[in-house]
Amino acid sequence: MILAYLMDSISSKVFLEPSTKLFPIPTVMVSCCTSDQKHNNIITLAWVGTVSSEPPMVSISVRKSRYSYGLLMETKDFVINIPDESQVAKMDWCGVKSGRDHDKFTKCGLTPARASKVKSPIILECPVNLECKVRHIVQDISRSHDIFLAEIVSVDVNKEFVDFSDPAKMNPIAYCNGKYYSVGKMIGKPGIWKHMEEVI
Ligand SMILES: Cc1cc2nc3c(=O)[nH]c(=O)nc-3n(C[C@H](O)[C@H](O)[C@H](O)COP(=O)(O)O)c2cc1C
Repeated sequence: MILAYLMDSISSKVFLEPSTKLFPIPTVMVSCCTSDQKHNNIITLAWVGTVSSEPPMVSISVRKSRYSYGLLMETKDFVINIPDESQVAKMDWCGVKSGRDHDKFTKCGLTPARASKVKSPIILECPVNLECKVRHIVQDISRSHDIFLAEIVSVDVNKEFVDFSDPAKMNPIAYCNGKYYSVGKMIGKPGIWKHMEEVI
């Protein structure tokens, strides 16, 4: 019986070559700067994740070829700016142009504002800014990206969203398999089904 069930489920599957198919994931604009704070830059990243809660830590994966890579190595801090849907074009533009050739803040009409705990500027227009200090750098574990593991040292948020009661209202942008999506309505909270004996 169990074997038949397994066979059925396997026949409904197609086994593809391995690829990056984990989604949805956030798409963010990471701001960084030179250690003398004279030059700022923005890089769009999707290979971003939460690593731990205590302390709150995140990872960002960046190719060595990016202009921002050198800035991250130099200053060892950055800000994860969460854009809203209205900023999707600016976010995309910062993901196809290099800071080697463009002042992305100026070209996108974005304001670099002083962060509270790091050298890198926040993007003022983004509703949420996570100020991060790099704690570890994992190099050369893959043929593409290096990983910056960083502690969130300040969460800067627009006053209207301060309680994070409905993050969907911030209109963050989700990245799903090479496309940008809106985040929809809330459908639950962790743990609210735990009283059920079975969930069939
Ligand atoms: C949606 C999106 C997600 C991206 N995610 C990453 C990423 O996770 N890591 C990375 O190294 N580059 C990523 N890129 C590419 C960089 O943003 C892009 O190469 C950018 O031009 C680099 O800017 P820089 O040279 O000023 O640092 C992404 C681009 C887009 C559009």
